[in-house]
Amino acid sequence: ARTVKLAVIPGDGIGPEVVAEGLKVLEVAAAQQDLAVETTEYELGAKLWHRTGETLPESVRTELAGHEALYLGAVGDPSVPSGVLERGLLLRLRFDFDHYVNLRPVRLYPGVASPLAGVGPEDIDMLVVREGTEGPYAGAGGVLRKGTPHEVATQDSVNTRFGVERVVRYAFEKAASRPRRKLTLVHKDNVLTFAGELWQRVVREVGSEYPQVAVDYCHVDAASMFFVNQPARFDVVVTDNLFGDIITDIGAAITGGIGLAASGNINPDNTFPSMFEPVHGSAPDIAGQGKADPTATVLSAATMLDHLGVPEAARRIENAVAADLKTRAQGGGSRSTAQVGDDLAARVAEQG
Ligand code: NAD
Ligand code: IPM
Ligand code: MN
Repeated sequence: ARTVKLAVIPGDGIGPEVVAEGLKVLEVAAAQQDLAVETTEYELGAKLWHRTGETLPESVRTELAGHEALYLGAVGDPSVPSGVLERGLLLRLRFDFDHYVNLRPVRLYPGVASPLAGVGPEDIDMLVVREGTEGPYAGAGGVLRKGTPHEVATQDSVNTRFGVERVVRYAFEKAASRPRRKLTLVHKDNVLTFAGELWQRVVREVGSEYPQVAVDYCHVDAASMFFVNQPARFDVVVTDNLFGDIITDIGAAITGGIGLAASGNINPDNTFPSMFEPVHGSAPDIAGQGKADPTATVLSAATMLDHLGVPEAARRIENAVAADLKTRAQGGGSRSTAQVGDDLAARVAEQG
Protein backbone atom coordinates (compact mmCIF):
# COMPACT_ATOMS: atom_id res chain seq x y z
CA ALA A 1 0.00 0.00 0.00
CA ARG A 2 1.17 3.51 -0.79
CA THR A 3 1.08 6.16 1.94
CA VAL A 4 0.53 9.84 1.23
CA LYS A 5 1.84 12.33 3.75
CA LEU A 6 -0.76 15.07 3.89
CA ALA A 7 -0.38 18.31 5.84
CA VAL A 8 -3.73 19.62 7.02
CA ILE A 9 -4.33 23.31 7.77
CA PRO A 10 -7.92 23.65 9.03
CA GLY A 11 -7.51 27.41 9.49
CA ASP A 12 -10.20 29.83 10.61
CA GLY A 13 -13.98 30.13 10.73
CA ILE A 14 -15.69 27.27 8.91
CA GLY A 15 -12.28 25.93 7.78
CA PRO A 16 -12.02 23.24 10.50
CA GLU A 17 -15.67 22.23 10.01
CA VAL A 18 -15.37 21.61 6.28
CA VAL A 19 -11.90 20.06 6.44
CA ALA A 20 -13.09 17.45 8.94
CA GLU A 21 -15.71 16.29 6.44
CA GLY A 22 -13.27 16.46 3.53
CA LEU A 23 -10.88 14.15 5.39
CA LYS A 24 -13.70 11.73 6.18
CA VAL A 25 -14.53 11.35 2.51
CA LEU A 26 -10.91 11.40 1.36
CA GLU A 27 -9.94 8.53 3.66
CA VAL A 28 -12.73 6.27 2.39
CA ALA A 29 -11.94 7.01 -1.25
CA ALA A 30 -8.18 6.58 -0.78
CA ALA A 31 -8.52 3.29 1.12
CA GLN A 32 -10.49 1.83 -1.78
CA GLN A 33 -7.40 2.35 -3.94
CA ASP A 34 -5.09 0.91 -1.28
CA LEU A 35 -3.82 4.36 -0.46
CA ALA A 36 -3.24 5.32 3.17
CA VAL A 37 -3.44 9.00 4.06
CA GLU A 38 -1.13 10.00 6.91
CA THR A 39 -2.25 13.41 8.13
CA THR A 40 -0.39 15.96 10.24
CA GLU A 41 -2.44 18.88 11.44
CA TYR A 42 -1.00 22.40 11.67
CA GLU A 43 -2.60 25.05 13.85
CA LEU A 44 -2.10 28.08 11.66
CA GLY A 45 -4.40 31.06 11.42
CA ALA A 46 -6.01 33.59 13.72
CA LYS A 47 -5.38 31.70 16.99
CA LEU A 48 -1.66 31.29 16.38
CA TRP A 49 -1.35 34.92 15.28
CA HIS A 50 -3.05 36.18 18.46
CA ARG A 51 -0.84 33.96 20.59
CA THR A 52 2.52 34.54 18.90
CA GLY A 53 2.18 37.22 16.24
CA GLU A 54 3.32 34.68 13.66
CA THR A 55 1.49 33.59 10.54
CA LEU A 56 3.87 30.94 9.21
CA PRO A 57 6.81 30.04 11.45
CA GLU A 58 9.88 29.03 9.46
CA SER A 59 10.01 25.60 11.12
CA VAL A 60 6.43 24.92 10.06
CA ARG A 61 7.11 26.06 6.53
CA THR A 62 9.99 23.60 6.35
CA GLU A 63 7.82 20.77 7.69
CA LEU A 64 5.04 21.57 5.26
CA ALA A 65 7.50 21.38 2.39
CA GLY A 66 8.23 17.79 3.37
CA HIS A 67 4.67 16.65 2.67
CA GLU A 68 3.23 15.36 -0.59
CA ALA A 69 0.25 17.70 -0.50
CA LEU A 70 -1.47 20.32 1.65
CA TYR A 71 -5.17 20.45 2.46
CA LEU A 72 -6.47 23.81 3.65
CA GLY A 73 -9.85 24.98 4.95
CA ALA A 74 -9.81 28.75 4.91
CA VAL A 75 -7.99 31.63 6.54
CA GLY A 76 -9.13 35.06 7.65
CA ASP A 77 -10.88 36.26 10.76
CA PRO A 78 -12.63 39.50 11.71
CA SER A 79 -10.37 39.80 14.80
CA VAL A 80 -7.24 40.01 12.63
CA PRO A 81 -6.48 43.01 10.40
CA SER A 82 -7.46 42.25 6.81
CA GLY A 83 -4.56 40.89 4.81
CA VAL A 84 -2.40 39.69 7.70
CA LEU A 85 -3.44 36.04 7.38
CA GLU A 86 -4.42 36.21 3.72
CA ARG A 87 -0.98 37.47 2.74
CA GLY A 88 1.08 36.10 5.61
CA LEU A 89 -0.23 32.56 5.37
CA LEU A 90 -2.31 31.73 2.29
CA LEU A 91 -0.48 33.78 -0.33
CA ARG A 92 2.82 33.01 1.37
CA LEU A 93 2.20 29.29 0.81
CA ARG A 94 1.09 29.83 -2.79
CA PHE A 95 4.18 31.92 -3.52
CA ASP A 96 6.76 29.95 -1.53
CA PHE A 97 5.57 26.63 -2.92
CA ASP A 98 5.32 28.09 -6.41
CA HIS A 99 1.66 27.27 -6.98
CA TYR A 100 1.65 28.94 -10.35
CA VAL A 101 -1.53 27.20 -11.46
CA ASN A 102 -4.67 27.93 -9.51
CA LEU A 103 -7.01 25.37 -11.02
CA ARG A 104 -10.71 26.09 -10.62
CA PRO A 105 -13.25 23.89 -12.38
CA VAL A 106 -16.62 25.52 -13.02
CA ARG A 107 -19.18 22.78 -13.62
CA LEU A 108 -22.92 22.63 -13.24
CA TYR A 109 -23.86 19.26 -11.77
CA PRO A 110 -27.12 17.65 -12.95
CA GLY A 111 -30.05 18.61 -10.78
CA VAL A 112 -28.34 21.65 -9.28
CA ALA A 113 -30.34 24.81 -9.72
CA SER A 114 -28.36 27.52 -11.46
CA PRO A 115 -29.66 31.06 -11.04
CA LEU A 116 -29.36 31.26 -14.83
CA ALA A 117 -32.60 30.46 -16.62
CA GLY A 118 -32.68 27.61 -19.11
CA VAL A 119 -29.12 26.48 -18.47
CA GLY A 120 -28.15 22.83 -17.93
CA PRO A 121 -24.97 20.85 -17.19
CA GLU A 122 -24.10 20.76 -20.92
CA ASP A 123 -23.87 24.57 -20.90
CA ILE A 124 -21.44 25.03 -18.03
CA ASP A 125 -18.31 22.90 -18.00
CA MET A 126 -15.21 25.01 -17.86
CA LEU A 127 -11.81 24.92 -16.33
CA VAL A 128 -10.43 28.23 -15.16
CA VAL A 129 -6.63 28.26 -15.06
CA ARG A 130 -5.86 31.22 -12.86
CA GLU A 131 -2.24 32.37 -12.54
CA GLY A 132 -1.25 31.95 -8.90
CA THR A 133 2.01 33.70 -8.13
CA GLU A 134 2.05 37.06 -9.91
CA GLY A 135 -0.22 39.89 -11.03
CA PRO A 136 -1.42 42.49 -8.52
CA TYR A 137 -1.03 39.83 -5.81
CA ALA A 138 2.76 39.98 -5.99
CA GLY A 139 2.91 42.67 -3.32
CA ALA A 140 4.77 45.23 -5.43
CA GLY A 141 3.97 48.85 -4.77
CA GLY A 142 3.62 50.89 -1.64
CA VAL A 143 2.33 53.97 0.09
CA LEU A 144 3.75 57.48 -0.02
CA ARG A 145 2.91 60.40 2.26
CA LYS A 146 0.62 58.21 4.32
CA GLY A 147 -2.12 60.00 6.19
CA THR A 148 -1.67 63.22 4.27
CA PRO A 149 -4.10 64.62 1.70
CA HIS A 150 -1.44 63.72 -0.89
CA GLU A 151 -1.24 60.07 0.03
CA VAL A 152 -0.48 57.76 -2.90
CA ALA A 153 -1.06 54.01 -2.84
CA THR A 154 0.21 51.89 -5.73
CA GLN A 155 -0.31 48.17 -6.20
CA ASP A 156 1.65 47.03 -9.22
CA SER A 157 0.72 44.06 -11.34
CA VAL A 158 3.76 41.87 -11.93
CA ASN A 159 3.73 39.84 -15.14
CA THR A 160 6.89 38.00 -16.11
CA ARG A 161 7.48 36.30 -19.43
CA PHE A 162 8.47 33.17 -17.49
CA GLY A 163 5.40 33.26 -15.25
CA VAL A 164 2.92 33.97 -18.02
CA GLU A 165 4.40 31.37 -20.37
CA ARG A 166 4.31 28.51 -17.88
CA VAL A 167 0.68 29.02 -16.90
CA VAL A 168 -0.38 29.56 -20.52
CA ARG A 169 1.39 26.35 -21.54
CA TYR A 170 -0.39 24.46 -18.76
CA ALA A 171 -3.72 25.84 -19.98
CA PHE A 172 -3.02 24.78 -23.58
CA GLU A 173 -2.15 21.26 -22.38
CA LYS A 174 -5.48 21.10 -20.52
CA ALA A 175 -7.39 22.48 -23.49
CA ALA A 176 -5.77 19.98 -25.86
CA SER A 177 -6.93 17.11 -23.63
CA ARG A 178 -10.58 18.18 -23.43
CA PRO A 179 -13.21 17.39 -26.06
CA ARG A 180 -13.92 21.00 -27.10
CA ARG A 181 -10.27 22.03 -27.34
CA LYS A 182 -10.95 25.69 -26.80
CA LEU A 183 -8.94 28.18 -24.82
CA THR A 184 -10.07 31.69 -23.93
CA LEU A 185 -7.64 34.29 -22.67
CA VAL A 186 -9.36 36.68 -20.29
CA HIS A 187 -7.57 39.99 -19.73
CA LYS A 188 -8.05 43.72 -20.24
CA ASP A 189 -5.57 44.47 -23.01
CA ASN A 190 -7.45 47.56 -24.11
CA VAL A 191 -6.43 49.32 -20.89
CA LEU A 192 -3.69 47.23 -19.24
CA THR A 193 -1.68 47.45 -22.42
CA PHE A 194 1.74 46.38 -21.09
CA ALA A 195 0.59 43.24 -19.34
CA GLY A 196 -2.20 42.55 -21.82
CA GLU A 197 0.13 42.62 -24.79
CA LEU A 198 2.51 40.20 -23.05
CA TRP A 199 -0.31 37.75 -22.32
CA GLN A 200 -1.61 38.04 -25.89
CA ARG A 201 1.80 37.50 -27.41
CA VAL A 202 2.54 34.49 -25.20
CA VAL A 203 -0.84 32.94 -26.03
CA ARG A 204 -0.14 33.46 -29.73
CA GLU A 205 3.35 31.98 -29.52
CA VAL A 206 2.53 29.01 -27.32
CA GLY A 207 -0.70 28.53 -29.27
CA SER A 208 1.28 27.95 -32.46
CA GLU A 209 2.42 24.67 -30.86
CA TYR A 210 -1.22 23.66 -30.34
CA PRO A 211 -2.90 24.12 -33.72
CA GLN A 212 -5.70 21.77 -32.60
CA VAL A 213 -6.77 24.24 -29.87
CA ALA A 214 -9.10 27.08 -30.89
CA VAL A 215 -8.07 30.35 -29.21
CA ASP A 216 -10.45 33.09 -28.19
CA TYR A 217 -10.06 36.32 -26.23
CA CYS A 218 -12.42 38.28 -23.96
CA HIS A 219 -11.91 41.43 -21.96
CA VAL A 220 -12.58 40.62 -18.32
CA ASP A 221 -15.64 42.86 -18.11
CA ALA A 222 -17.24 41.18 -21.11
CA ALA A 223 -16.18 37.76 -19.80
CA SER A 224 -18.01 38.51 -16.55
CA MET A 225 -21.12 39.17 -18.59
CA PHE A 226 -20.69 36.09 -20.77
CA PHE A 227 -20.23 33.88 -17.66
CA VAL A 228 -23.78 34.87 -16.83
CA ASN A 229 -25.53 35.08 -20.20
CA GLN A 230 -23.44 32.75 -22.42
CA PRO A 231 -21.47 30.40 -20.17
CA ALA A 232 -21.36 27.77 -22.93
CA ARG A 233 -18.84 29.85 -24.84
CA PHE A 234 -16.13 28.87 -22.38
CA ASP A 235 -14.08 25.68 -22.14
CA VAL A 236 -10.61 26.38 -20.70
CA VAL A 237 -10.07 29.94 -19.49
CA VAL A 238 -6.59 31.27 -18.75
CA THR A 239 -6.25 34.53 -16.88
CA ASP A 240 -4.22 36.53 -14.40
CA ASN A 241 -4.37 36.18 -10.63
CA LEU A 242 -6.88 38.93 -9.82
CA PHE A 243 -9.20 38.45 -12.80
CA GLY A 244 -9.21 34.73 -12.03
CA ASP A 245 -10.14 35.37 -8.40
CA ILE A 246 -13.14 37.44 -9.41
CA ILE A 247 -14.48 35.40 -12.30
CA THR A 248 -14.29 32.15 -10.32
CA ASP A 249 -16.65 33.59 -7.69
CA ILE A 250 -19.01 34.34 -10.59
CA GLY A 251 -18.38 30.79 -11.78
CA ALA A 252 -19.33 29.51 -8.34
CA ALA A 253 -22.48 31.58 -8.26
CA ILE A 254 -23.75 30.24 -11.59
CA THR A 255 -23.10 26.60 -10.65
CA GLY A 256 -24.95 26.38 -7.35
CA GLY A 257 -22.97 28.62 -5.05
CA ILE A 258 -19.64 29.05 -3.36
CA GLY A 259 -20.27 25.99 -1.16
CA LEU A 260 -19.64 23.77 -4.18
CA ALA A 261 -16.59 25.40 -5.77
CA ALA A 262 -13.30 23.49 -5.53
CA SER A 263 -9.75 24.54 -6.27
CA GLY A 264 -6.20 23.31 -6.44
CA ASN A 265 -3.09 25.42 -6.06
CA ILE A 266 -0.84 23.37 -8.26
CA ASN A 267 2.91 23.22 -8.65
CA PRO A 268 2.95 21.16 -11.86
CA ASP A 269 6.71 20.55 -11.59
CA ASN A 270 6.30 19.01 -8.11
CA THR A 271 9.23 20.98 -6.72
CA PHE A 272 6.96 21.71 -3.74
CA PRO A 273 3.72 20.19 -2.50
CA SER A 274 0.52 21.41 -4.12
CA MET A 275 -2.31 22.72 -1.94
CA PHE A 276 -6.01 21.98 -2.19
CA GLU A 277 -8.75 24.17 -0.75
CA PRO A 278 -12.28 25.34 -1.45
CA VAL A 279 -12.70 28.61 -3.35
CA HIS A 280 -14.67 30.10 -0.46
CA GLY A 281 -13.32 31.77 2.65
CA SER A 282 -13.75 31.34 6.38
CA ALA A 283 -17.38 32.56 6.32
CA PRO A 284 -17.37 34.13 9.79
CA ASP A 285 -21.10 34.79 9.43
CA ILE A 286 -21.91 31.07 9.69
CA ALA A 287 -18.86 29.70 11.53
CA GLY A 288 -19.42 27.32 14.43
CA GLN A 289 -23.02 26.57 13.51
CA GLY A 290 -22.59 23.38 11.49
CA LYS A 291 -24.23 25.10 8.54
CA ALA A 292 -21.34 25.26 6.10
CA ASP A 293 -21.53 23.10 3.02
CA PRO A 294 -18.41 20.89 2.97
CA THR A 295 -18.91 19.89 -0.68
CA ALA A 296 -16.37 22.35 -2.09
CA THR A 297 -13.73 21.02 0.29
CA VAL A 298 -14.68 17.43 -0.55
CA LEU A 299 -14.37 18.16 -4.28
CA SER A 300 -10.99 19.78 -3.63
CA ALA A 301 -9.88 16.42 -2.22
CA ALA A 302 -10.87 14.88 -5.56
CA THR A 303 -8.68 17.43 -7.33
CA MET A 304 -5.89 16.39 -4.97
CA LEU A 305 -6.36 12.70 -5.77
CA ASP A 306 -6.13 13.50 -9.48
CA HIS A 307 -2.91 15.38 -8.82
CA LEU A 308 -1.55 12.46 -6.78
CA GLY A 309 -2.29 10.09 -9.64
CA VAL A 310 -5.31 8.31 -8.16
CA PRO A 311 -8.05 9.32 -10.61
CA GLU A 312 -10.28 6.34 -9.72
CA ALA A 313 -10.70 7.71 -6.21
CA ALA A 314 -11.27 11.21 -7.55
CA ARG A 315 -14.08 10.00 -9.85
CA ARG A 316 -15.74 8.16 -6.97
CA ILE A 317 -15.81 11.33 -4.91
CA GLU A 318 -17.26 13.26 -7.84
CA ASN A 319 -19.87 10.53 -8.38
CA ALA A 320 -20.80 10.70 -4.70
CA VAL A 321 -21.19 14.47 -4.90
CA ALA A 322 -23.26 14.19 -8.09
CA ALA A 323 -25.60 11.69 -6.43
CA ASP A 324 -25.87 13.80 -3.29
CA LEU A 325 -26.66 16.94 -5.29
CA LYS A 326 -29.40 15.09 -7.16
CA THR A 327 -31.13 14.12 -3.92
CA ARG A 328 -30.89 17.73 -2.74
CA ALA A 329 -32.69 18.79 -5.91
CA GLN A 330 -35.49 16.42 -4.93
CA GLY A 331 -35.87 18.37 -1.70
CA GLY A 332 -33.80 16.35 0.78
CA GLY A 333 -34.26 18.86 3.59
CA SER A 334 -31.34 20.73 5.12
CA ARG A 335 -28.50 18.78 6.71
CA SER A 336 -25.64 19.79 8.95
CA THR A 337 -22.06 19.99 7.73
CA ALA A 338 -21.29 16.63 9.37
CA GLN A 339 -24.38 14.96 7.94
CA VAL A 340 -23.41 15.98 4.42
CA GLY A 341 -19.90 14.61 5.06
CA ASP A 342 -21.32 11.32 6.40
CA ASP A 343 -23.63 10.97 3.41
CA LEU A 344 -20.82 11.65 0.96
CA ALA A 345 -18.52 9.17 2.68
CA ALA A 346 -21.28 6.54 2.55
CA ARG A 347 -21.83 7.20 -1.15
CA VAL A 348 -18.14 6.74 -1.83
CA ALA A 349 -18.14 3.52 0.21
CA GLU A 350 -21.10 2.19 -1.84
CA GLN A 351 -19.00 2.33 -5.00
CA GLY A 352 -16.23 0.18 -3.52
P1 NAD B 1 -16.52 33.85 2.20
O1 NAD B 1 -16.35 32.91 1.05
O2 NAD B 1 -15.92 33.43 3.47
O3 NAD B 1 -18.09 34.09 2.43
C1 NAD B 1 -18.94 34.70 1.45
C2 NAD B 1 -20.39 34.22 1.70
O4 NAD B 1 -20.50 32.84 1.31
C3 NAD B 1 -20.81 34.28 3.17
O5 NAD B 1 -22.14 34.65 3.24
C4 NAD B 1 -20.64 32.84 3.63
O6 NAD B 1 -21.50 32.46 4.69
C5 NAD B 1 -20.95 32.04 2.39
N1 NAD B 1 -20.22 30.76 2.36
C6 NAD B 1 -18.88 30.61 2.17
N2 NAD B 1 -18.55 29.32 2.23
C7 NAD B 1 -19.70 28.62 2.45
C8 NAD B 1 -20.00 27.24 2.62
N3 NAD B 1 -19.05 26.28 2.56
N4 NAD B 1 -21.28 26.87 2.84
C9 NAD B 1 -22.25 27.83 2.89
N5 NAD B 1 -22.02 29.15 2.75
C10 NAD B 1 -20.76 29.55 2.53
O7 NAD B 1 -15.93 35.25 1.71
P2 NAD B 1 -15.79 36.66 2.51
O8 NAD B 1 -16.96 36.85 3.41
O9 NAD B 1 -15.49 37.62 1.47
O10 NAD B 1 -14.48 36.49 3.40
C11 NAD B 1 -14.46 36.04 4.74
C12 NAD B 1 -13.02 35.82 5.19
O11 NAD B 1 -12.44 34.72 4.45
C13 NAD B 1 -12.11 37.01 4.92
O12 NAD B 1 -11.18 37.07 5.97
C14 NAD B 1 -11.39 36.64 3.64
O13 NAD B 1 -10.13 37.26 3.49
C15 NAD B 1 -11.25 35.16 3.82
N6 NAD B 1 -11.12 34.39 2.58
C16 NAD B 1 -10.26 33.33 2.61
C17 NAD B 1 -10.16 32.50 1.53
C18 NAD B 1 -9.24 31.33 1.60
O14 NAD B 1 -8.77 30.98 2.66
N7 NAD B 1 -8.95 30.70 0.50
C19 NAD B 1 -10.97 32.71 0.40
C20 NAD B 1 -11.86 33.79 0.40
C21 NAD B 1 -11.94 34.63 1.51
C1 IPM C 1 -9.34 32.92 -2.92
C2 IPM C 1 -9.30 34.04 -1.91
C3 IPM C 1 -7.87 34.54 -1.78
C4 IPM C 1 -7.45 35.10 -3.13
C5 IPM C 1 -7.61 35.59 -0.69
C6 IPM C 1 -8.17 35.18 0.64
C7 IPM C 1 -6.14 35.89 -0.57
O1 IPM C 1 -10.17 35.05 -2.26
O2 IPM C 1 -8.69 31.89 -2.69
O3 IPM C 1 -10.08 33.03 -3.90
O4 IPM C 1 -7.75 36.25 -3.45
O5 IPM C 1 -6.84 34.36 -3.90
MN1 MN D 1 -11.44 34.55 -3.96
